[in-house]
Amino acid sequence: MNEKTNMGVFPKGFFWGASTSAYQVEGGIANDWAVWELAHAKELALTAHQHYAHLPLWPEIKKQAEDPENYVAGKGVEHFKRYKEDFDLLNKLNLNSFRFGIEWARLEPEEGHWDEAAVAHYHTYIAELRKRGIEPFLNIWHWTVPTWFSDKGGFSKKQNLVHFDRFVKKIADEYAEELTYIITLNEPNVYVANGYLVGEWLPQQKNPLLGMRIYLNLVRAHKRAYRILKAKKDGLQIGVAAQLANIQAKRPHNFFDELSTKVMRYGWNWWFLRRIRKQQDFVGFNYYFTDYYTGLVKRKNPQVPISDMGWYMEPEGIYPLLIRTWAHYKKPIFITENGLADGHDEYRRWWLEESIVAMERVISEGVDLRGYFYWSLLDNFEWNKGWWPKFGLVEVDREHDMKRTIRPSAKWLAARLADWQKL
Ligand code: BGC
Repeated sequence: MNEKTNMGVFPKGFFWGASTSAYQVEGGIANDWAVWELAHAKELALTAHQHYAHLPLWPEIKKQAEDPENYVAGKGVEHFKRYKEDFDLLNKLNLNSFRFGIEWARLEPEEGHWDEAAVAHYHTYIAELRKRGIEPFLNIWHWTVPTWFSDKGGFSKKQNLVHFDRFVKKIADEYAEELTYIITLNEPNVYVANGYLVGEWLPQQKNPLLGMRIYLNLVRAHKRAYRILKAKKDGLQIGVAAQLANIQAKRPHNFFDELSTKVMRYGWNWWFLRRIRKQQDFVGFNYYFTDYYTGLVKRKNPQVPISDMGWYMEPEGIYPLLIRTWAHYKKPIFITENGLADGHDEYRRWWLEESIVAMERVISEGVDLRGYFYWSLLDNFEWNKGWWPKFGLVEVDREHDMKRTIRPSAKWLAARLADWQKL
């Protein structure tokens, strides 16, 4: 065996999982994003050239990216219907945990009215995971909300938080007894940046002040959720899924590069986590990017290797990030997402292998890393980019009855996990 990995380093009980979000896979969801994408699908298709023509993959994705259908989540990958089949895949991949979302708009389609069939669905869903020996990690909010909530101004108004509290309380009352791990919020920084700074996602604003207000309200939303959940069951382990980047100075010791690195590390990575440090039992973070800063806040990454989406890939960048996260918080850490868009499955195995080696290194240095969730189990709906980016360990052919096929890199991972289980 010439594998670089040494699975023996990972403790028994380490969580090897995959991550999803309801809106990106389930299908048939009516929420604020569904309304927005229908209104913007045509425009996204018409401007696809502007956004993606520079990508090496463009000739291959052009047709799809210029088709408005690409930007509609629609049937998703029918995970809502096929979840048992998908959970069987988790078993096949030798994974022992799964991060998934509960869609608020399904549970509370009208203000104050619970859809009992949807509530029951997620009970069965969790039970089916448990039946297969899979630990459920429930994620409460992954950016989407019911339209009645966004019509009221969503998270921009502090008084609206009572509605989120009610949703959290419902989750606590219904599911707390069936769970140990709950993630309250996914990537508040990405949500605010894309919706209110860059202005590419709904509600497509460039309004930093409003963005800041929402960011603060999300801090509040998390703290309140933490209290509600703990009051129901003290043993719950609660955290967020933050988006952390491995931010580095392009020219170490250059004054300006170091300065922008410091500012960005604090602003992007630590600001939110610091505010909730007393209201989290673990630190959960998603890792995709290493960003090199040069001068004042200008990114200058190497040209290669890049993923299908043009993202510069440095999987081992997770190592310094884990070391720093541990130094800051001294709490158990979960990598709640990590992965790449790679339709030809060219880089995924390499990415996984480098990530595993980086995790081995931090574990041997004493970092309390408890789990790793690959993004994603299935090819899924990549927000305003639609269906062409392929993040799945499992390929989904939406043209042919949503056929699922395990990618070779995933088989490689499954074999490593089988070795680990035997140890
Ligand atoms: C998000 C996912 C998204 C993934 C890839 C993360 O920021 O949580 O919803 O699909 O990145 O872009």
